[in-house]
Amino acid sequence: MTVRISLPQADDAQDRYTRGRQLAAQRELYDWDRRPGLPPLCKGVPAPERFSRSSTEEMLGDAADSILSGAMSLIAWARGKPTRLSHYDSLYALRRRPSVSTDWMSDREFARQRMNGVNPFLITSIAALPDNFPVTDAILRGVLPDGVTLAQLLGQGRLFICDWKDLAGTPIVFGRFQVAPMALFWLDDTRTLMPLAIQLGQSPAEAPVIFTPADDKWLWLTARSYVANADGSYHEIIAHLTRTHLVMEGVWVAACRTLPPAHPLHELLRPHFTGTININDDALGDLIAPGGPIDQTMSVGVDGGLWLAEQEYRRWRLQDWNPRADLARRGVLDPAVLPGYYYRDDALMLFDMIGVYVSELLGVFYRDDEDVRNDDELQAWGRELAHDEGAAIAGFATDGERVFETRTEVFRLVQQVIYTVSAEHGAVNNGQWDQFGYIPNTPGALFMPAPTSKHMTNEARLAYAFPNFRTAVMQMAMVHMLSAPTLTPLGSYPDRFFTSSRPAEQAVDRFRSCLDDATIAIEERNSALRTEDRYIYLTPSDVGRSITI
Ligand SMILES: [Fe+2]
Repeated sequence: MTVRISLPQADDAQDRYTRGRQLAAQRELYDWDRRPGLPPLCKGVPAPERFSRSSTEEMLGDAADSILSGAMSLIAWARGKPTRLSHYDSLYALRRRPSVSTDWMSDREFARQRMNGVNPFLITSIAALPDNFPVTDAILRGVLPDGVTLAQLLGQGRLFICDWKDLAGTPIVFGRFQVAPMALFWLDDTRTLMPLAIQLGQSPAEAPVIFTPADDKWLWLTARSYVANADGSYHEIIAHLTRTHLVMEGVWVAACRTLPPAHPLHELLRPHFTGTININDDALGDLIAPGGPIDQTMSVGVDGGLWLAEQEYRRWRLQDWNPRADLARRGVLDPAVLPGYYYRDDALMLFDMIGVYVSELLGVFYRDDEDVRNDDELQAWGRELAHDEGAAIAGFATDGERVFETRTEVFRLVQQVIYTVSAEHGAVNNGQWDQFGYIPNTPGALFMPAPTSKHMTNEARLAYAFPNFRTAVMQMAMVHMLSAPTLTPLGSYPDRFFTSSRPAEQAVDRFRSCLDDATIAIEERNSALRTEDRYIYLTPSDVGRSITI
């Protein structure tokens, strides 16, 4: 059925009655579920939000194939040498081995993943070294070229830091280990980001030595492994689960409680929330449930995972996650400051493209700010988003009945929502197999304490800290399923999408055309790069339009 899309103030009394009755039904269907510490979510999975049977079957089938692949690898694993990290190469009976398996030991690849991996949100330009990470020129002897000092590099803006401080204090499963490390990077003389130093804790008192690439190879790889492990937890729980999946669900629940199907925002947002309530219900019911994959494969387990999600939700503010604001806060907005940060380049391009699209499409309905002020359904959505009894979106305060005064406020909010559920989620979701599908590159859990001295070590001691067969296969199964390619990319919409408004349909067509151009531009950029440096997670044709996995 084609729904005539309109603002409520443009409807007659009969149509307004229909809208009100639909909203009454929607409010019964979409009720709030409040779990202590987590963002408000939907109570249950309303029928219109349920996965099709084929989606569920595909996910279960993928997990079953991974377990089968693991089982078929068991003999090769049993015959291999547990003292070698290449032991994990035998686990791919039915799976493509991630290409990082051949390159993961290189420092350049380690640094690249901090910029263009699945967690590109920590790399920060610094003007001074933090007091709690006292790297000195003496520590870096043999790492930096002779005559090059930290003071010089700071003056030239060539030093960067990643700080996993948000992991400090996380409850860790007994017998597993995780630290909250800090890592220092520099742009070398070829303007390539390279690691300089790692501290496996938040202070010298906690982590008394600073590791560098000049250390024994296996000692340095051990330090890097604890960083990769920390980055895996930060990525999966903070950047992925909390900042995309969980905080966004409330936006749609609030929309369903306040905007009838005839409202242009309901029509626009619905395809961008396909499957989200269902996947989050699955995530909290299975993935991050006691005994589930996160509990079995990650240092943090289910208790630490939920603790981290609660901490992040407490810190999270909507406006902080505008990508331009985030990049500016970290001092890496300017390509001259940090070259080769393709996540930044593609994220900004998509963010701006979505902004133009939202303005053009909603501009068809909201011709001026007066239209915004007079839309009582829109204002109700704003109140539902802001209020503690609603979605409780932090940073979206309101002190009165009217939340939105201008078109710009509405357009910016919708831009950020669509960006977050499509592009930002693609950036954190699409590369999970590439980065976490090869255990030596990212061990989800480590089973020996982090080193606190520079005593000699070797490959066997590092391998001893790594996941066993069962845990490794489980980690691989989890991230393979989560990396499934999207079937509904950004720009795809249901057949009947704004069919009652030709100007709106034209805005959609222009958006698709811009996305096609962006896909071509990114592919051309990538084709000129080394294979290992190609950044593919924000190629629009591979970015899902909604969070469904
Ligand atoms: Fe996801």
